[in-house]
Amino acid sequence: MPTPSKSRVVGTAAWLGLLLLVALARGTGDKPPPPAAAPVANFAVAPYLQYATKTAITVMAETAVPLTATVRYGLSADLKGTATGQPGTMHELRLEGLQPSAKYFYQVTCRGDGATTVASPLLTFTTACDSSEAFSFTVVGDTQKNPVVTGKIAKLMWERRPHFVLHMGDVVDNGPDKREWTNEFFKPCAELLSRVPIYPCIGNHEKNHPHYYQYFSLPAPENYYHFTYGNAEFFSMDSNQFLTPGTKQYEWLDKALSASTAKWKICYHHHPCYTSDADDYGDTYKGGSTLGELKVKFLVPLYEKHKVDIAMNGHVHFYERTHPIKAGKVDRAGVVYLTSGGGGGKLEDFGPTPTFFKNQNRVDYHYCYFTIFDNVLEGKAFDHEGRLFDTFEIKK
Ligand SMILES: [Fe+2]
Ligand SMILES: [Fe+2]
Repeated sequence: MPTPSKSRVVGTAAWLGLLLLVALARGTGDKPPPPAAAPVANFAVAPYLQYATKTAITVMAETAVPLTATVRYGLSADLKGTATGQPGTMHELRLEGLQPSAKYFYQVTCRGDGATTVASPLLTFTTACDSSEAFSFTVVGDTQKNPVVTGKIAKLMWERRPHFVLHMGDVVDNGPDKREWTNEFFKPCAELLSRVPIYPCIGNHEKNHPHYYQYFSLPAPENYYHFTYGNAEFFSMDSNQFLTPGTKQYEWLDKALSASTAKWKICYHHHPCYTSDADDYGDTYKGGSTLGELKVKFLVPLYEKHKVDIAMNGHVHFYERTHPIKAGKVDRAGVVYLTSGGGGGKLEDFGPTPTFFKNQNRVDYHYCYFTIFDNVLEGKAFDHEGRLFDTFEIKK
């Protein structure tokens, strides 16, 4: 009888091992399989934070079945404050009368009939600080259709322990698709957003769908708003519309910028005023590019008039920081334009010839990290592996 080949012996042993594992996994008795678990209440979107001010913050969550949410919160873990919402699946509770620049603990518990309960772990948030204090924030854009990369970026942003996050729009790839919101954005960002509020602007891929307005709780009309944090004021605009003089948004922004007493003024909207992108706005190689979105170009004179420090955007899926620009030329007294569209959407590229305003650029998934204290703003950009690839400072 021929000796079995080595591969046959190994193959037989592997099969015996596999059968043994299956037997162990099934159990050796004749016990029936356990009954399928009954559907349980769960978070469709784990608790997350919205629109922090010095004295208030909004806690949101979504549950898979209609429940009543209660937020218990306090300056210590004994959570003496309580806020309770209405029964439903979307939960939105505004906590008011808080102390400025304070660290709070909170926990969300959602209850239904009988024993149907879902509860978050003990979480934390921070209220906005005073104008004399230092603070930090991260920036991400275009987290569309790439939950793995979005999760990596969210983890890196959370490591920075920012006070808040700005999102440059295209939160999802297809606004009407609820699954993209719950599974591709909120799920990979859950740890970050349960502790750090996010201030978005609306992108074209949101398609102005009610999901944007449902998942974000912002001052009316929500597609544009402003907020103050420390000594800075932030203005979020909807660049899906033409922002020409005479339009509601343009006039609102003009007034709001005039009224602002903040040391730092930062504007953001999804589409770029200036970009060195290869194709979205025409071919820069052939000299036919508009070098930006015409719908927002009208804001440039407004930014210059009101001495806006930085205008940020997403939409183009890469990183770019311009030199300061004024009256169509590089000018130290001008506005810096920053594109941060590296949160997961398919990457794009730069035109083959340098534009007059280009300072730093990079094609990669990334996020930005800013700190502001008094008259100094520091900006940094990190790729999806945490590698620093741009750093700059603006002093007043
Ligand atoms: Fe995008
Ligand atoms: Fe976009």
